[in-house]
Amino acid sequence: MTTSKTPRPFPAADAIDPARVPVHVLPSGARLPVVGLGTFGSDAVTGETVAAAVVDAAAVGYRHFDCASVYGNEALIGPALKAVQAAGVPRQELWVTSKLWNDKHAPRDVEASCEQSLRDLQLDYLDLYLVHWPFPNFHPPHCDVSSRSPDARPYIHENYMQTWRAMERLVTRGLVKHIGTSNMTVPKLRLLLRDAAIKPVCNEMELHPHFQQPELFDFVRASGLVPIGYSPLGSPGRPERDRTSDDTVDLEDPVIVAIARRLGVHPATVALKWAIQRGQVPIPFSVKRANYLSNLRAALTPPLTPAEMQAIAGIDRNCRLIKGQVFLWQGSRGWEDLWDVNGTITPR
Ligand SMILES: NC(=O)c1ccc[n+]([C@@H]2O[C@H](COP(=O)([O-])OP(=O)(O)OC[C@H]3O[C@@H](n4cnc5c(N)ncnc54)[C@H](OP(=O)(O)O)[C@@H]3O)[C@@H](O)[C@H]2O)c1
Repeated sequence: MTTSKTPRPFPAADAIDPARVPVHVLPSGARLPVVGLGTFGSDAVTGETVAAAVVDAAAVGYRHFDCASVYGNEALIGPALKAVQAAGVPRQELWVTSKLWNDKHAPRDVEASCEQSLRDLQLDYLDLYLVHWPFPNFHPPHCDVSSRSPDARPYIHENYMQTWRAMERLVTRGLVKHIGTSNMTVPKLRLLLRDAAIKPVCNEMELHPHFQQPELFDFVRASGLVPIGYSPLGSPGRPERDRTSDDTVDLEDPVIVAIARRLGVHPATVALKWAIQRGQVPIPFSVKRANYLSNLRAALTPPLTPAEMQAIAGIDRNCRLIKGQVFLWQGSRGWEDLWDVNGTITPR
């Protein structure tokens, strides 16, 4: 009899061979698996549950894990990653991302913050370390979206570059293999690419069928970066504070539903297949075995047809779900200010 205390076999009997999961080969030669497991419990799922999912997701074939210090669970994911390695997965087969939180942008804090994530995750190096948001603006956990920190500031490139120089030193010191950005816009990335000594390899950005960000997506790819797509299923489990009445639901879109019906799969599989085929790396969150297993399997089943890919390209609603309101500064007009919607950086 299997009880909750009985360790599951590793790899699982129905595991996907990780060697079959396609990868993006980065300029360094490193191999980034095209699907990762998100680890943000959205205030609703405990760190223990996420950590258990990490071990079991590795047992079903995941090798890519998207972490962040602000998710508050790295100290629980560390033992999970240790258990995965003890079960026989060599460190070099894992891809672990972490992120610098907004309150640690001061250059003196960057190294300490990275070292803390390494200690928590029980690793000697990270495969990828991202600047989580391009603003040093932060807020108390669980705060209301209308709260504004008096210290919050718009994007200041000189300051971002000081943070970036400290990120570059992490590479030089061997603490991280690659560095990257998250929640950037085209004009901000243009400046970074102009000034960086060590270029970002990835930009992590919100990407799902109703929010395709075609201009940023094309710019990221044309610049040689890999787009990592967060909330690839339209984040159905996001907290109440991240919901507004005009948000749309990707997985109920008739185009997605019709393709899912043709394939006999859940609409989530269609969103992921579209993402992978388009060239982004989705990092769906799940703590349910059947879900994270089928999410990884989406990378291996036959591709969507060109007509289906085109049909999904046609359902973009420009519906940003993670608007970032809490990072706004006093005097800002609205969340659009964070995203440079006019193509220029919102001025100070
Ligand atoms: N860089 C950033 O600023 C940033 C921002 C947001 C998120 N992220 C990263 O992106 C990850 C994913 O984003 P997200 O969590 O917002 O949204 P998501 O992956 O789009 O959606 C996750 C939700 O979908 C459900 N789900 C997963 N697979 C499913 C399936 N096959 N069928 C039906 N439901 C399924 C999950 O529930 P179950 O657990 O019940 O399966 C969970 O509630 C995060 O965990 C985090 O690592 C990064």
